Amino acid sequence: MELRTPRLILRPFRMEDIPDVAAPSAHPAFGQYIELPSQPMERAEKWVTRIVAERQPDSKSDWHFAIQVEDDPRLIGWIRLGIGEAKLRQGEVGYALHPDFWGRGFMTEALKRILAFGLEDRRLVRIWATTNLLNVGSWTVMERAGMQREGVMRRDRLLRGEWGDTALYAALSGNL
Ligand SMILES: CC(C)(COP(=O)(O)OP(=O)(O)OC[C@H]1O[C@@H](n2cnc3c(N)ncnc32)[C@H](O)[C@@H]1OP(=O)(O)O)[C@@H](O)C(=O)NCCC(=O)NCCS
Repeated sequence: MELRTPRLILRPFRMEDIPDVAAPSAHPAFGQYIELPSQPMERAEKWVTRIVAERQPDSKSDWHFAIQVEDDPRLIGWIRLGIGEAKLRQGEVGYALHPDFWGRGFMTEALKRILAFGLEDRRLVRIWATTNLLNVGSWTVMERAGMQREGVMRRDRLLRGEWGDTALYAALSGNL
């Protein structure tokens, strides 16, 4: 499955993506609000090998998309729609972008397309996402893509020894 936006192609992963999946972990800003793998290359190799073999959706009912800019095949980030038990018609999204490509609205564009894919093509009724409340870039992307804040779960995450708060966002069918 390949999805298009005005500037991006969201496509299935390929084995050639492994180095580009590992690369963002080398940037301190990338890991500011998320746990980074201790061995990024090994982890990327294992993950990409599995999802390439399983295809879309994978064995966990996750739709994984590599993000590329127009016809440049290099992976700049990724976005996932997890559906779990299809009859419940709930989805969860998660995403990441290489820091070289931040601040250009790419993730807002990708997220809008994934929300439409989930709510229209897959006929989900709700798609939710969470982020560290301090990750302003991430929840700004969610708001720009049409998700609404449903609440804040206080002190529910531990990151490098600090307790943090989580913002919960969702988009509902017919409400984008
Ligand atoms: C989350 C992520 C995808 C957003 O990337 P992006 O699309 O480049 O987002 P931007 O940097 O353009 O930020 C979006 C907006 O939030 C604003 N913003 C970002 N950080 C901010 C901050 N600390 N305070 C205030 N505003 C902030 C930006 O200025 C931008 O608004 P603008 O276009 O008006 O300038 C990217 O930061 C990322 O991949 N982070 C690492 C992985 C991660 O955290 N994933 C999400 C896990 S929930």
